[in-house]
Amino acid sequence: MTIKKTREEQLVIQYLNKLGLKPYKNNRQFWDDLKRRHNQDIVNQLSEKMKVNDTDLDSLSAFYELKNSSLSLSIDVSKISADLYKKYFDWFTTQKGQAPKRILEVGCDNGIVACFLATLYPDSEVIGIDHRLNTIERAKELAEKLNLSNVSFIQMEIGEVATRFDKQSFDLIVSLSVFHELLNLQTPRYWSIGELLEMDETIDDTSSFISLKTLLKNNPSSKWISCERLPFMGAISVWAKAITASGFHILWDEMQYLHFQELGEQQKMPIFIASTQNNIDLLEKVYAFESKDKVLQLFDGKTLKEPEAEIVFEQTEDKEFVKGVEIHFTNGSGNMRIECWKTREKIFLYQFTNIGYRELKVFGNIEKALSDFENLKEQWTPYGKTYHYESIEEREQIET
Ligand SMILES: C[S@@+](CC[C@H](N)C(=O)[O-])C[C@H]1O[C@@H](n2cnc3c(N)ncnc32)[C@H](O)[C@@H]1O
Repeated sequence: MTIKKTREEQLVIQYLNKLGLKPYKNNRQFWDDLKRRHNQDIVNQLSEKMKVNDTDLDSLSAFYELKNSSLSLSIDVSKISADLYKKYFDWFTTQKGQAPKRILEVGCDNGIVACFLATLYPDSEVIGIDHRLNTIERAKELAEKLNLSNVSFIQMEIGEVATRFDKQSFDLIVSLSVFHELLNLQTPRYWSIGELLEMDETIDDTSSFISLKTLLKNNPSSKWISCERLPFMGAISVWAKAITASGFHILWDEMQYLHFQELGEQQKMPIFIASTQNNIDLLEKVYAFESKDKVLQLFDGKTLKEPEAEIVFEQTEDKEFVKGVEIHFTNGSGNMRIECWKTREKIFLYQFTNIGYRELKVFGNIEKALSDFENLKEQWTPYGKTYHYESIEEREQIET
């Protein structure tokens, strides 16, 4: 029996095929293939340079310089991680909710991850940064080869991101196998995780995490997804402690290990999901408390008031913004938004203020919802300054 692949699973396979990213069964197959496809001299030099350890920065630079001397060599070396990429990309395709609009990949190397995200999210803007010029050159070459116009690459240190990008301008930040090159991720000796978490000498320089945090939009769906080689509980605890200390909130329930093969060896890496919001649990608890003993049914013609209106609206996934208007009341009593949103089955007209009023009307068809939207707008515009917006990004530009 053949199991039909989803469109997203097919997209991952097509992407990996386009790049020729097939995993090697073992170390020997990797070197034999490199020797067959590349200059013997370069392959010998590469073999020497791959013996370096990550803390020797000069040797690490020499390795990247050589490996990225051509796109084909760079991609061939990346085949070591072909199965990791597959599992990582498959994981992305299972993520629910709206596609992130603006994505940053830090430590992008030859652009394999950034170009995948640009393919998976064709309406998003993806930016990859790396501090090495040759990685950026290869990444641009890859994007061009794949005909992608929604991805760009900039040479930059991770430490610079907070000054080179606008604050709160990304919905998603990703990093895959990057931080071991700039931080000491070694776990000190410890007898128990409790003892380890009490220690001071774990990751002490969290400045790059703090910089990343400033770039994320301030809403619960904005996330930093980091994936490092943290193969046991102690390493995970140290990483979790450092990113929590930087103000991130870890979404433990959504996390999982990626299990993959690397040159025939079984490996695992945890996918860490971190949000800038420290109050997600609290939010869920408040919503759960307020919805206790209530049946929140939705049907054409139903009107919900606060708090049910907010709970239903905020907890409905996959809703698409249609249009909105914000009114700043001239008497100083606050601001109101009237917004129309579309889900697969229903249309929402959500009217809410920043002083607590909420009303959610449910419609079965868009014409009726838009006509009510216009009526409400007409009713309220005489009382204040009115701003129209066609997207949530436009709404964020409205002066406060
Ligand atoms: C092991 S590679 C991973 C590449 C890519 N994420 C992937 O998995 O395909 C690590 C990358 O991080 C980059 N990197 C390391 N330290 C950096 C820093 N301080 N600022 C920017 N990039 C850095 C390196 O140049 C390298 O390209």
